[in-house]
Amino acid sequence: MQSSCPNFHPAQLKEVFSRFATSEAIELESTLYSTLALEVSKCRDLLELASFTQYSQPAPNMLFAAIQYLLLNGARHALKQFYPRLATGPTSYSAVGDTLKNFCRENREAIVELISTRRTQTNVVQRSSCLLTGLSLVSHSSKCQDLCLVDLGASAGLNLNLDLYSHCYYQGSSELFKAGSPESGVRLRTEVRGSKSLPPNQSVSIAGKVGIDLNPIDVYDSDSVLWLQSLVWPEHHERYEQLNRALELARTNPVNLIRGDAAEKLEDVVDEFPRDQALVVCSTIAEYQFPQKTRDEIYGILVSASKHRAIWRLSMEGSPESLLSLVRYEDGAQIQYTTLAKCSPHGLWIEWINQAERH
Ligand SMILES: C[S@@+](CC[C@H](N)C(=O)[O-])C[C@H]1O[C@@H](n2cnc3c(N)ncnc32)[C@H](O)[C@@H]1O
Repeated sequence: MQSSCPNFHPAQLKEVFSRFATSEAIELESTLYSTLALEVSKCRDLLELASFTQYSQPAPNMLFAAIQYLLLNGARHALKQFYPRLATGPTSYSAVGDTLKNFCRENREAIVELISTRRTQTNVVQRSSCLLTGLSLVSHSSKCQDLCLVDLGASAGLNLNLDLYSHCYYQGSSELFKAGSPESGVRLRTEVRGSKSLPPNQSVSIAGKVGIDLNPIDVYDSDSVLWLQSLVWPEHHERYEQLNRALELARTNPVNLIRGDAAEKLEDVVDEFPRDQALVVCSTIAEYQFPQKTRDEIYGILVSASKHRAIWRLSMEGSPESLLSLVRYEDGAQIQYTTLAKCSPHGLWIEWINQAERH
């Protein structure tokens, strides 16, 4: 086991867990995580345990992923009864606090090892439906037949396979349109909110795909896949199904994943794509983990590379509400910034805005 030390003060985490219990867990409809987070916020020992989370990582997500990982990996404990993926689900949560404390006491070493060495790498394929609307716009406006995609913080690279998924956009009870591969086993449905229409639904042709991640998830490695599955919240059955189907598809349609810091690897990756193809550098809910230096360097690389080719930066970032934004770089400068849409961080809904600012 690696030596670890606490990275947070328990008092600081008390607030983090109680906020998680009353906001994030409620918004994302997890009664179990809301209940567990409340228990953690009231218990000094559990807060002290959670303080071993790496500084750049969200402590509740890490602690609960570690616990679920151990349970999915076969840990025999009464805590299992509260996990719908592992049992039929409890009728009451009255005993959950003591059961949680007991589980964490018995598995303390394993939990510390997990939360101090791993990261939240949740690969949410539903986010790709939001990305696709932005790509559709680039495809339309660039007049390039083919797009090349670079995903920064790609995790297992599953969002790079978005052209292989079936995307359905709906409003109320009406289906607006479908995109992607209609026969795909990965079926994604996104609610369209607001009064503005999404961009013209044209098919997006992707000629090249590369993902960069500090720790790319190998879709053939069962332990890495188990960690990815453990990051999906227990009540999110559909998301779990989508993840497993996308992983299956990725095993027969592998994407090129490069290990390293996004900024350190980007320049070489950009150089590899033919200049007559529209290059889109994207990210989804990943930038919050990048140091400021990495973000600044990414900007510099894109500005410099745009002296030789047009480049777009498409990002879906921010929580509890995300913004989908598109930046265009050309002739060595950022020439346009457009806020395309508001969307849910999990890509469950999108509200088109398309507000451009010239630079
Ligand atoms: C929350 S996950 C998001 C994964 C994926 N983009 C999605 O939306 O499904 C963030 C990812 O960013 C990666 N990451 C964090 N810092 C990074 C850096 N400096 N360079 C490259 N990847 C990084 C993490 O390893 C993780 O896989």
